[in-house]
Amino acid sequence: MYNSKIIGLGKYVPDNVVTNDDLSKIMDTNDAWITERTGIKERRWVKEGSGDTTATMGVKAAKMAIERAGISKDDIDFIVFATLSPDMYFPGPGVQVQHALGIKTVGALDVRNQCSGFIYALSVADNFIKTGMYKNILVIGSELHSHGLDKTTRGRGVSVIFGDGAGAAILTREENNKKGILSTHLHSQGEHAEELVLKAPGMGTRWVNDILADNNEDDESYFPYMNGQFVFKNAVVRFSEVIMEGLMANGLQKEAIDMLIPHQANLRIAQFIQNKFGLTNDQVFNNIQKYGNTTAASIPLALTEAWEEGKINTGDTVVLAAFGSGFTWGSAIIKW
Ligand code: UT7
Repeated sequence: MYNSKIIGLGKYVPDNVVTNDDLSKIMDTNDAWITERTGIKERRWVKEGSGDTTATMGVKAAKMAIERAGISKDDIDFIVFATLSPDMYFPGPGVQVQHALGIKTVGALDVRNQCSGFIYALSVADNFIKTGMYKNILVIGSELHSHGLDKTTRGRGVSVIFGDGAGAAILTREENNKKGILSTHLHSQGEHAEELVLKAPGMGTRWVNDILADNNEDDESYFPYMNGQFVFKNAVVRFSEVIMEGLMANGLQKEAIDMLIPHQANLRIAQFIQNKFGLTNDQVFNNIQKYGNTTAASIPLALTEAWEEGKINTGDTVVLAAFGSGFTWGSAIIKW
């Protein structure tokens, strides 16, 4: 059995900055509400005509990660791509990355799992490496939310929160099993599937022809819905549980955490977890202020920036944790 370790990180965000004040011009919202409830000051929204898509943003982040890893694209044995906003209904963006990077015909796996998508993707990659099946795996989280949000006052409870962007990591084999990804922990609770959901189009709900036939402008089924307070209450409990689960599985106490990178759902959630685990501001990395919630991209985007800012060093215990739609949640404990 091997371990896996991250040897390269990359990111990409669209140029177009949308501030809270910009949003207050198109819907009934304001900077004070958004800042107080979420910590978000601005987000990136892809500009029409820019050519950015979930797949192309993922490719740009991947290129940076490959270069920083010091490997060639031809060394990549497998691709895992996490997103809830694929360019096409099918196939998923993994194969678009394989093609765009000109990688030989390696496997490409698409992961759903929304806000927990990157942790799930990382777990899959880690376990493929642990068994010896693959040596170098490209893991991507990328989202283009802005195209599918209800940008009117009706949708303000959701649309002010989400942003576009991508992050990527290269995982490789590590022979020392005390280094790299020590463990990952994944959970789900489908009874709450409809508390954070985008129902249509779906084969089991309403397909595109049903939506067109109804021609009902009050139809909200093709916009994301979130029961915000219920999600918030579950998030703080599950984040804490799954971080503790990861620490305990490795015989670690909370004092061992050098850096916690929580999924960037809401700055208030991150601060709650920070207080609960007694961590300082330097031990928790947040960039939701700049990017909003980028779902599967949020952890690799934050991990990349924390690393770029020199906040993650060799030997550090780094904890990643996420919670979101499904509900799904998970954590990863990494010895950097
Ligand atoms: O990433 C996946 C996981 N997601 C999460 O973890 C998100 C968890 N939930 C949250 O972060 C928070 O619940 C939100 C930030 C989404 C909302 O904050 P809240 O404190 O729960 O607000 P609320 O939904 O209870 O709404 C309070 C009020 C309502 O008005 P009334 O009914 O009190 O008059 C809303 O209509 O705020 C109103 N409101 C807004 N006002 C200005 C909702 N959205 C907005 C807005 N601007 N954008």
